[in-house]
Amino acid sequence: MSDTITAVRAALLHFTADPASAGDQAYQYYPDGLLIIKNGYIDNAGPAEQMLPLLPESVSINHYPNCLITPGFIDTHIHYPQTGMIASYGEQLLDWLEKYTFPAEKAFADPSHAEEVAEVFLNELLRNGTTTALVFGTVHPESVDAFFSQAQRRCLRMIAGKVMMDRQAPEYLLDTPESSYQQSKTLIERWHQQDRLLYAVTPRFAITSSKEQLAKAGQLLQEFPDVYLHTHLSENTDEIELIKQLFPDAKDYLDVYDTHQLLGSRSVFAHGVHLCDHQCQRLAETGSALSFCPSSNLFLGSGLFDLAKMEKYGVKVGMGTDVGGGTSFSLLQTLGDGYKVNQLKGQQLSPLKSFYLATLGGAKALNLDSKIGNFTKGKEADFVVLDYQATPLIKYRLQHTTDIAEKLFVLTTLGDDRAVAATYIMGQLAYQR
Ligand code: GUN
Ligand code: ZN
Repeated sequence: MSDTITAVRAALLHFTADPASAGDQAYQYYPDGLLIIKNGYIDNAGPAEQMLPLLPESVSINHYPNCLITPGFIDTHIHYPQTGMIASYGEQLLDWLEKYTFPAEKAFADPSHAEEVAEVFLNELLRNGTTTALVFGTVHPESVDAFFSQAQRRCLRMIAGKVMMDRQAPEYLLDTPESSYQQSKTLIERWHQQDRLLYAVTPRFAITSSKEQLAKAGQLLQEFPDVYLHTHLSENTDEIELIKQLFPDAKDYLDVYDTHQLLGSRSVFAHGVHLCDHQCQRLAETGSALSFCPSSNLFLGSGLFDLAKMEKYGVKVGMGTDVGGGTSFSLLQTLGDGYKVNQLKGQQLSPLKSFYLATLGGAKALNLDSKIGNFTKGKEADFVVLDYQATPLIKYRLQHTTDIAEKLFVLTTLGDDRAVAATYIMGQLAYQR
């Protein structure tokens, strides 16, 4: 069969390293770039002027003037069942879960409801330029079947799992250590490594899992060494107090997971807002990742994530929207909130670091940087086209700006879904504004 080659032309930016350590060597930027895709994978990326003469004449070129192409955004923590209860008023974490989240998740026992929400959710991801996400389902295995079926239909690289939760939640949402083990195992065998789908063992957080259930989660990771672990960690001070009561023998919050063998290079912990030096060190030495969720941390009043501290300890970090604790599906908006969180910490989140975190940094946090995250030859061609003229204000603000860092900063400060002109999956147009 002959190769299918397509090309997209616009300004082009991608990262090969973390700008915090590699500076200007961390990225490649072509003001007039060309991205060449062969059979759904990156073939080449570079200056249009040099590359156009090399293209066969039969290849069609999609040209986006006044736009920037970057790798697709990676959301390292989000809850698809919370799509319909985003923007719920007035509470911090534990009361918010009880008042809004658990009742909303109850409805996912019905597969047709799960399908409906999965569809809205995936449309919303693509509208926002998010091409890969690490996703919470509910306790119902049906919620994961619905999500993976829809993601598979769209050829998406997605990671998801069924919530494991056997206490401290309404009776109607509880499983048991044994049923959660069996259901997760069945789902792993059904979905993990099918096309672009991957499974995450998903104990909600240590409050809602008994020691017996956390041990079952550890057993699943032993039996299926290439699945993920996805949970919450040290988000809110009342949550941390309750952890102390429930696990009086644990050294700290992370130790609860550590003693059940849940840390490792495919383990992603959402939040990590209140972590001591020892916990940061332990995350780093086990290759575990944190998901930085600034929109959620501000909305739920949880606290201010310390990105500089994580850089110092060498902890892997990706960006998470944490919808519906977070208030936007947009990673641009989430980065804007991330900048403000850093301001309140007396730190600066540079625009280059921001785009790194939303692309290659997220891929590294998900241990997927051999497949996605930048435009290295052979990677899966998921990318986004961002519009420098998306709104009258963005257009006006950028009219005389040539500096790429300044353009990126304006996009994260003023941009949202409106800035996404198109989203491509495996080289195919999947969304157009
Ligand atoms: N901790 C336990 N469950 C949740 C949840 O659904 N959202 C957030 N933000 N934190 C949690
Ligand atoms: Zn969450």
